[in-house]
Amino acid sequence: MSIAHGIRTLGVLGAGQMGLGIAFVSAVHARVPVLLHDRAPAQIKSGLALMDKLLAKDVAKGRLSAEEAKEARDRVTVVDQEKGFKGFRDVDMVVEAVSENLSLKQTIFRSLSTELSPSTILASNTSSISITKIAAATIPEGKTASDAEGKQSASRVVGLHFFNPVPVMKLVELISALQTSSETLDRARAFAVACGKEVTTSQDVPGFVANALLMPFINEAIMCLEKGTATRDDIDKTLRLGMNHPMGPLQLADFIGLDTCLAIQQTLYAGTGDSKYRPSILLERMVDAQWLGKKSGKGFYDYP
Ligand code: CAA
Repeated sequence: MSIAHGIRTLGVLGAGQMGLGIAFVSAVHARVPVLLHDRAPAQIKSGLALMDKLLAKDVAKGRLSAEEAKEARDRVTVVDQEKGFKGFRDVDMVVEAVSENLSLKQTIFRSLSTELSPSTILASNTSSISITKIAAATIPEGKTASDAEGKQSASRVVGLHFFNPVPVMKLVELISALQTSSETLDRARAFAVACGKEVTTSQDVPGFVANALLMPFINEAIMCLEKGTATRDDIDKTLRLGMNHPMGPLQLADFIGLDTCLAIQQTLYAGTGDSKYRPSILLERMVDAQWLGKKSGKGFYDYP
């Protein structure tokens, strides 16, 4: 028997490439009203412009009628800056898609759990950070992990890891914290399916399945470049033409964001102590230089 997700309104926190993509598939496929919040108004503006562009393309390609596209766009509302997280008060689930930083996520989840009803599902789109650590941050002040309130609060936290570009990539990785309840997991899974995605599940280990495999691969490609084993173009071409990857690993790293790749690799390395996850010096230096890939205009490639 399929479980109903029961999400009547969704909150999306962060209007970057991931948050916007999640808002898009939620409004278009799951057809739920979405409240979008980002502390940077410029991010909201560029996110909504991208959404309009994606909807217009879907209409042009005959995947949506003009009316369906308008309905989807009307489902997305921006939360007033002054309201902050209070603007999410009536949502059934929040998906957080801010940058990969444990203490930032813990602060956000602590505030969300204070502002919102204990039944609101709190999902993180993190690519590698421990969902168990994030869930523990929601235990109310003065309570413990074994109090009823502490257990209830942490039990509604779950990992819901979408892939970029969200409208195109078919997968969502579902991650259970030690504390996540089976009801939270079932509802989060049902929501991802309603968004048109296939779901795989992973234990809460650093990088889950996707990035525990992808990041050493990307890092190895960067080390090949560092050592002069081959040129940038030949490394990428080898994987594109030899293995049918849609993008070579250096282009993919630029696409994901070099700061994000580094943050994930640092989480993997710190979380396992395994030297195979140690980020390459070249990657660190490129991030030091603010060469962050496609989003900053420069990475392994230039994006004029
Ligand atoms: N947002 C929405 N749609 C996009 C898009 C974006 N940013 N970029 C491309 N698309 C759409 C295009 O509009 C096009 O759609 P239509 O078929 O409707 O026309 C479709 O994707 C194909 O695009 P293109 O023809 O322009 O280019 P392409 O065939 O080279 O495909 C790609 C582009 C889909 C990005 C492809 O190169 C690809 O699959 N690359 C690998 C992406 C990948 O591995 N993503 C996962 C990254 S890891 C991650 O996200 C998680 C993590 O934790 C780090």
